[in-house]
Amino acid sequence: MISAPVVFNRVRQVKQEHVLRYWDELSESSQLKLLEQLRAIDFELLDDLTRRFIFGKENSQFAGDLAPADIIPIPQTASQQAEAIRAWRYGEDILRQGKVAAILVAGGQGSRLGFEGPKGKFIATPISRKSLFQMHAEKIKALGIKYKTTIPWLIMTSESNDAETKEFFERFSYFGLDQKDVYFFTQQMIPAIDGQGKLILDRKDHIFTNPNGHGGTLISLKNSGLLAEMKTRGIEELFYFQVDNVLIRICDPCFIGYHSLANADMSAKVVAKKHAHEKVGVIGKLNGKVTVIEYSDLPKSEMEATTPDGKLKYNGGSIAIHLIKLNFIEKLTSKELNLPYHVAHKKIPFIDDNGNLVIPESPNGYKFEMFIFDALAYAKNCVVIEVVREDEFSPIKNLTGEDSPDTARRDLINYYGRMLNKLGVDVPFDQQHDVQGALEISPFLAMDENELKSKLGPDFKFTDNFYLE
Ligand code: UD1
Repeated sequence: MISAPVVFNRVRQVKQEHVLRYWDELSESSQLKLLEQLRAIDFELLDDLTRRFIFGKENSQFAGDLAPADIIPIPQTASQQAEAIRAWRYGEDILRQGKVAAILVAGGQGSRLGFEGPKGKFIATPISRKSLFQMHAEKIKALGIKYKTTIPWLIMTSESNDAETKEFFERFSYFGLDQKDVYFFTQQMIPAIDGQGKLILDRKDHIFTNPNGHGGTLISLKNSGLLAEMKTRGIEELFYFQVDNVLIRICDPCFIGYHSLANADMSAKVVAKKHAHEKVGVIGKLNGKVTVIEYSDLPKSEMEATTPDGKLKYNGGSIAIHLIKLNFIEKLTSKELNLPYHVAHKKIPFIDDNGNLVIPESPNGYKFEMFIFDALAYAKNCVVIEVVREDEFSPIKNLTGEDSPDTARRDLINYYGRMLNKLGVDVPFDQQHDVQGALEISPFLAMDENELKSKLGPDFKFTDNFYLE
């Protein structure tokens, strides 16, 4: 372990000694805590990021030739439909063989929603009032039952929400899953810096850090030993998803089928964008390689560009759902994995000269993050499929307005309503095609209308506020 004087020297060398300004008034345990943090900081990396992003005014915008990527469309023609069915069956076989694990990234800070604690604790279902975590857990359990297999579930947390996430799962007995099939691992943290490239103290004994982005998943999977554990369990594919999407089709067999039939290393799902400025990343080809360009990194001209038929040139909005081959992650992490960092100008709480905590009103610092989708560029083959937004994507991101708890509730109810409607049940829809009333269907009963078909009695009638389970 690096001794304290060596750490102090290093801190002075890199002109960050301001973080030690309360040192003398700290208790011994606080001193140890701060020292521990300083030991773990990669000052070379920070120096590089500062030079490039702060002093060099580099931004995360891409460099090179951007062009639209090939996307498998929503099946329309008979041959597309036949291909989708083939993919579905192929994917189902892979699931039955127990080769797929689900991986959830839940290490983010959920600051836009203004919800204290892990976002997965947020109550999301309209009637049974289940949390996002419970929704996901039940889908995974239901899939296991359907395909007579076990789907291990890997959950990435971060320093700030790990203990609370685990406590939540324990309190609810892992929502009926076997504890040995649920694996938690934490991602690494990275310090933010201010406009002068200085570290930011948010307590007298603590430097502000943020999770290093979901790009940190790959290396943390390796370091936690979970990559090796999954290999031992015979897992070949990881189904990657985010915590906030209430319509997520976890381990969608059709997606697994397309991905596997193409022998892809990493694949992605997209939906048609609602409008040019929707805050989703878009799929494109950068210097010939498929990638996602984050909305904040896409220039306005490209965002608004259209094709001759009037459609958006970059219309494939990433819904942050991927399939990633386990051996692709092994390859990527066997050498030094250099996913690029992206920068964001943010409001960061800090300690002022009197030792008081200040919550700034405007951005005062820079946070750095790596993004998982930058790994797409390393993939040998990669499949992108378009799916129906109404059936697969409704995230909870904001407290009100677009992508909020209200829109997620509405979209869930409409999804269940359409399922019943397709089976001939008379469901009341208003002029906006929203169900008048509330309903919910448990994944243990059915996850799509084909499953529901055999379970509904012939006299089934819609009544407001019912929960089918
Ligand atoms: C994200 C995608 C965007 C996509 C959209 C779809 C990024 C950078 N952008 O946007 O391209 O169109 O979702 O909904 O991801 N997370 C971690 N650790 C971190 C940071 C985030 O686990 O260090 C997790 C969060 O818990 C969350 C997910 O990653 O589950 C997404 O993070 P968020 O910052 O909410 O991304 P969005 O802006 O919603």
